[in-house]
Amino acid sequence: MKQNPFQQNPTDGRVSAADRPEYAYFPFGGGPRHCTGMRFARLEMQIVLGVLCRRFDVELLGDPDFEFDPEMTLRPADPVRVQIHERH
Ligand code: HEM
Repeated sequence: MKQNPFQQNPTDGRVSAADRPEYAYFPFGGGPRHCTGMRFARLEMQIVLGVLCRRFDVELLGDPDFEFDPEMTLRPADPVRVQIHERH
């Protein structure tokens, strides 16, 4: 499985988020007992990411075309090294 997460659509345009089957990606579970904090958690992640992106630039050190390891969670097969720069 080789994909580039730095592209706007990391699925390479094969499946857009809107077309994705409901249970292709379900980090908050599904069905009647799905996570009640889902909307809060998503909003919080967007806010935290926005604050971090405003304050810092993240520079990728190395090849952006790396392998993924689809385990319980999807993770890069090898460490991804980045350098964080404070924005001025
Ligand atoms: C990134 C953050 C979070 C992730 C990935 C996550 C994920 C999950 C998952 C996978 C479940 C099990 C759903 C199922 O059985 O189908 C769950 C249940 C639950 N989550 Fe979260 N959760 C997150 C944040 C939160 C937050 C912030 C709250 C509360 C403010 C919360 C409250 C709950 C509750 C109450 C349940 C049990 C729902 C039930 O059994 O009816 N979660 N969560």
